[in-house]
Amino acid sequence: MNNNSLDNIGQANSGSVGNAVLECCGLTKVFAEGRENLNVLNGIDLLVMPSERVAIVGTSGSGKTTLLQLLAGLDLPSSGEVVLCGQTLTNVSEQQQGELRNRHLGFVYQFHHLLPEFTALENVAMPLLLRAEVTVKEARIRAQALLGTVGLSERMSHKPAELSGGERQRVAIARALVGNPDLVLMDEPTGNLDPHTAGRIHELMDSLSKKLTTSFIVVTHDMDFAGQMDRALRLEDGCLVAA
Ligand SMILES: Nc1ncnc2c1ncn2[C@@H]1O[C@H](COP(=O)(O)OP(=O)(O)OP(=O)(O)O)[C@@H](O)[C@H]1O
Ligand SMILES: [Mg+2]
Repeated sequence: MNNNSLDNIGQANSGSVGNAVLECCGLTKVFAEGRENLNVLNGIDLLVMPSERVAIVGTSGSGKTTLLQLLAGLDLPSSGEVVLCGQTLTNVSEQQQGELRNRHLGFVYQFHHLLPEFTALENVAMPLLLRAEVTVKEARIRAQALLGTVGLSERMSHKPAELSGGERQRVAIARALVGNPDLVLMDEPTGNLDPHTAGRIHELMDSLSKKLTTSFIVVTHDMDFAGQMDRALRLEDGCLVAA
């Protein structure tokens, strides 16, 4: 891992040290299915502090992706609320939610969600290009630095369809990190990676959490990876318990 390239990514997050990055309490999610209801989340309480790295494990279908979507404000809870960097997500307009996400949150989707018509470099630079104060040149430099850090210097000009599954996964990770978010939510980020490359991603997370106080919530089936986090929680019967 080239830690020097991290220095090019940008400045430390501001204002969140000493305050919770994420707080949620009493979070529930019920999916209506015909006459039946599917209770996926039954009252989730979670507090994440700056620099904290939290793993969430659980069987397939236990609600891990649903939980991450609620924490990011990408879906509405049935009850309960999510507070991201001091702002209650359900109390703000959709536009404000988008701005909050762009400033404070990185999200690695389970199935990447890269934009197919753009190159790896453009995909990674995209969150920065949405910020008025960042120039195109600066966005490209920061995106290049991060792609180098995840080992993709040689593949930057390729579109997602021309990349392997693990390469796409790393592009998605670089895109989530490029804006120096306070919190990164990752949905099985190392599922397609060999142990060596997964280890590099872990080192990158470790370095960002130490240098920039970035916090991580990582859904994973990889118990080794989960064991390297500060805390590991299991989603079971719609509740979070110590893993
Ligand atoms: N939009 C939806 N409408 C109805 N049911 C849904 C919806 N989204 C998810 N579910 C159901 O909610 C449950 C939890 O789904 P979720 O995707 O959160 O599981 P997961 O823990 O991420 O599983 P995996 O490890 O397979 O990714 C599953 O039973 C799923 O079928
Ligand atoms: Mg999932």
